[in-house]
Amino acid sequence: MKLSIFGLGHVGLVYAAGFASIGFHVKGFDIDAEKIRMLNRGRLPMVEPNLMELIDSGTKQQRLVFTDDYHDAVLSSDASFVAVDTPLNEEEELDLGQVISAFRMIGESLRKAGGYHIVVIKSTVPPGTTSGIVRETLEKESGKKAFEDFGLAVNPEFMREAHAVQDFFETDRIVIGANDERSRKVVSEIYASFRCPKLITSFNNAEMIKYASNSFLAMKISFINMIANICERIPGSDVEVVAEGMGLDKRITPSLLKPSLGWGGSCWPKDNKVLLDLARSLGVEAPLVESTLEINEGQPLQAIRMAEEALGPLRGRRVAVLGLAFKANTDDVRGAVSRKVIKHLLERGARVVVYDPVAMDNYRALAESNGKTIEYAESGLECIRDADCVIVVTEWEEFKRITQEDYRRAMKRPVLIDGMRIYDAKRYSEITYRAIGLGPQ
Ligand code: UDX
Repeated sequence: MKLSIFGLGHVGLVYAAGFASIGFHVKGFDIDAEKIRMLNRGRLPMVEPNLMELIDSGTKQQRLVFTDDYHDAVLSSDASFVAVDTPLNEEEELDLGQVISAFRMIGESLRKAGGYHIVVIKSTVPPGTTSGIVRETLEKESGKKAFEDFGLAVNPEFMREAHAVQDFFETDRIVIGANDERSRKVVSEIYASFRCPKLITSFNNAEMIKYASNSFLAMKISFINMIANICERIPGSDVEVVAEGMGLDKRITPSLLKPSLGWGGSCWPKDNKVLLDLARSLGVEAPLVESTLEINEGQPLQAIRMAEEALGPLRGRRVAVLGLAFKANTDDVRGAVSRKVIKHLLERGARVVVYDPVAMDNYRALAESNGKTIEYAESGLECIRDADCVIVVTEWEEFKRITQEDYRRAMKRPVLIDGMRIYDAKRYSEITYRAIGLGPQ
């Protein structure tokens, strides 16, 4: 079977390369011709461990081709996966523009297609989207009937950035939403070689599973962050130990119990917001989703409060922010906590210096310092030099190697705020060390 993938962002590229590696012939399509040129020159448009190697092997074996010609992508394949972005617009509402545009292109091409073709939506869309606007767009543009002339299925992905290649091969489950037998069968065949539970259900359930999963996972972190904020007020208490004790319960598990200045990224912030909007539009209260978001909004302020407790007003203080990416091993700054921390610091008149091993360019491109100057350092050690305070936002390995002695020597006054709990408090006891969820010791 030949596949085409629409949208070569994180999800689409990993699926394109992953499917090629398990034997499919794949055409990866993107409207961004520059991205296609980059990929064809063997360069990755983002940082994602092991992805370039996977792409290289697919292109060398001539099973993976990149194109900006959508007719060619559809007409030379049997199944088209749509993996374009579904971001929030400026009003913070879901923007389905890219999804609709992709389905227009596919529909238009389907008009010319001879045999059976199946369209699979991987992008995260709210329940009702596939049976509604997606089906309508495809039928209108193609002049054909869904479930008769072409197949349609929903197939959400659950990959984490920075672990996406591993998550492709070792996925916990595959969810297939399909309303007709043939679509169910064809998508199941595509995933036949995957040894994991497969859930076949309706469009709406498949769409909802993605939102409910993302909201539940984010809720877990907001929960531990809430506990962290309580622990911080209790002498001798440490949320890391509390989380360890909780995680030993097989029903809880240790995953996603790492306290932080909040969760970020391209998925959870928008998916939680969309789920909340969906609930409200249906006249349903969703207080857990609301609190999950609320705790997350407040969490970066914990670092600011700690800095103010140690230094007094931050106006004129030099504050170093270590880490811009929303997590380690990615250059993605979408929804990154660093942006909230920096915004709060600038509002308080602090002099901000930042460093990230790979996300500096992406952060600069956002140009969101509102005219205020931010200094960009060339390394972690340069960033902390002469600082009154350091806030660790991203858990990069490079930052873990900065010792107490380094901080003491480099900083004007060594106030270290560990927003990601990357250090062992005992080894930093001779400087002012404050950490999320660590009570007075
Ligand atoms: C997430 C989901 O994990 C994935 O299933 C979905 O398909 C897309 O969204 P991703 O956004 O790549 O993946 O990031 P993830 O590794 O889950 O981390 C999200 C955020 O939570 C990061 O900012 C991370 O630093 C933070 N985090 C993670 C914590 O604060 N504590 C934790 O214990 C784990």
